[in-house]
Amino acid sequence: PIIKVAALCGSLRKASYNRGLVRSAIELSKSIDGLEIEYIDIEPLPMLNTDLEGVGTFPTAVEAFRQKIKEADSILFASPEYNFSVSAPLKNAIDWASRPPNVWADKAAAIVSASGGSGGSRSQYHLRQIGVFLDLHFINKPEFFLNAHEHPAKFDGNGNLVDESFKEKLKEILISLQRFTLRLQGKL
Ligand code: FNR
Repeated sequence: PIIKVAALCGSLRKASYNRGLVRSAIELSKSIDGLEIEYIDIEPLPMLNTDLEGVGTFPTAVEAFRQKIKEADSILFASPEYNFSVSAPLKNAIDWASRPPNVWADKAAAIVSASGGSGGSRSQYHLRQIGVFLDLHFINKPEFFLNAHEHPAKFDGNGNLVDESFKEKLKEILISLQRFTLRLQGKL
C-alpha cells in the first residue's frame, strides 16, 4: 500500500530551514517504496475566526486545506520553535483543521524541527500535547532536533539541508512514520 504523507511547515519565511527539511524529506522519500509526501502550504489560511464558518462550511482556503489533511494517511510537521512553543501559523492551521469534524483524528504523525539552541525540542513537546486532543498519534523515535545556527552550517543560503548525517536521520524518521502508519491502519 502507498502511504500518503501531508507535510506542513510552520514557518512562512521564504528561505525557511524547516521548509528545507520538507523539501529534503520529499527528495528522500523517492528512495522509499510506498511513501508519498506532499507539501501543503499553510500561508493561504486566514487567521482563525469562527465567524468565517457556516454550518459545516469554511472559507475556500480552509476547505482546501482540510481536504488535503483528510486525504492523508499521516502528517509530517516541520516547524521552528517560537518562544518555547509551536509557531503561530502552524497553530492556526492546526486549529482550522480541528473544527468539527476534526480531520486530524486517528492519523499518524512525526515532528522535525530546525530552530535555535535545543533545535526546537520544547516546541515538539508542546505539539505532542496539542496532538492529544486531536487524536494524532506521534512516533516516539527517532527524534529530530536540528540547531540551525550551529557551525558548520547544516543548510545552504536557500534553506536547503546539506548535512549528510541529518539527511540520514530524516530518512529514518520517514521510514519509522511509514511503519507506524501501516501498524495503525492494521496493514503491518
Ligand atoms: C524564535 N526562535 C527561537 N528558537 C528557539 O530555539 N527557541 C525559541 O523559543 C525561539 N523563539 C523564537 C521566537 C520568534 C518570534 C522567532 C521569530 C524566532 C528562532 C527560530 O526558531 C529560528 O530562527 C528558526 O531557524 C526559524 O525557522 P525557519 O524560519 O528557518 O524555518
